[in-house]
Amino acid sequence: MIPTLEWLPQGVSFLDQTKLPLEETYVLATDYQQVAVIIRDMIVRGAMAIGVAGAMGVALGIDRSRATSLADLDHEVAHICQTLAETRPTAVNLFWGIGQIRELYQALAATHTPIMEIKAAVVARARQMYDEDIAACRQLGQFGAELMPQKGTILTHCNAGALAACGYGSALGVIRAAVERGQQIDVLADETRPYLQGARLTAWELMKDNIPTTVLCDNMSAHLMSKGRIQAVIVGADRIAANGDTANKIGTYGVSILAKEHGIPFYVAAPWATIDLATANGEGIPIEQRDRREVTHSNGRQMTPDGVGIENPAFDVTPAKYISAIITERGVLRAPFIESIAAAAGTHPAKNLHLEAQRTV
Ligand code: MRU
Repeated sequence: MIPTLEWLPQGVSFLDQTKLPLEETYVLATDYQQVAVIIRDMIVRGAMAIGVAGAMGVALGIDRSRATSLADLDHEVAHICQTLAETRPTAVNLFWGIGQIRELYQALAATHTPIMEIKAAVVARARQMYDEDIAACRQLGQFGAELMPQKGTILTHCNAGALAACGYGSALGVIRAAVERGQQIDVLADETRPYLQGARLTAWELMKDNIPTTVLCDNMSAHLMSKGRIQAVIVGADRIAANGDTANKIGTYGVSILAKEHGIPFYVAAPWATIDLATANGEGIPIEQRDRREVTHSNGRQMTPDGVGIENPAFDVTPAKYISAIITERGVLRAPFIESIAAAAGTHPAKNLHLEAQRTV
């Protein structure tokens, strides 16, 4: 298991993903402000990892607070949550993770629980969320492995693996589960410009697990699909709207269209926490715009002329119509997603409609 992040007595430890694959180093956050910087600067990244990082950040802030009254602690908690929420806008898991700890805090404060007990409870909950993420990914991995070929090549985009989660991963969790079952899978990893999550991170973690992996530039998959070299595509998600529209790393949308054109299944794998029932469709998903330097520079070296215009949206939205199935720990969801998502959420009158497998976690 790759230790993406870990709660330690002295703080929260993060594997520094900006240094991979060349250096395996760790950064220790001893206060919530440091956790916020670590999320913003992508030392930790990936929707599930930043969800748990957000939860641990709030727990760390509460645990280290010197407040002696609940009134003072209330103010601090509001500020802690806001600071962490302002780091990255797209992955709904971040807001979910922060919300889990905030709600627990509010419930305990409402019953005048002593501050020491509140501290212990929020830390325990944040640590539990880490374990729950692994369990959810293992479960969705089992569901997803059923959809993978006995033998074949799977294309993935960005990194939806152990590094994007708490050590197992969503899209790469499905691949791991398939390989654990004896399926002969090899992976094509889009390099994923501009941040190179595929080339740096997906390749690194799959090679650690001895899963055959080949990196390709983002503009090469159409050619390989046309030659019959790709049997399925699987990606993760940062936010899935109630109708199935899915935000994921920039470039995912294009890959989904290519897959459709070539008759290749396109799967999204994500834990339930990535589904945002409050957002009706992809139009409502905020897309993070990142620094122009990520595009203008490579390894510290300038690649573009001074003053040229630059676009750098970090995510795009794949319309639900291009998605063959959404794989969650509650089961495999199929179109029409507005119904299958509602059924899995328990908000649809015809419960479990289009659910191929039932929740087992
Ligand atoms: O900008 P990043 O590296 O945080 O983006 C990550 C992705 O887009 C992943 O594919 C996504 O979070 C799904 S894996 C949890």
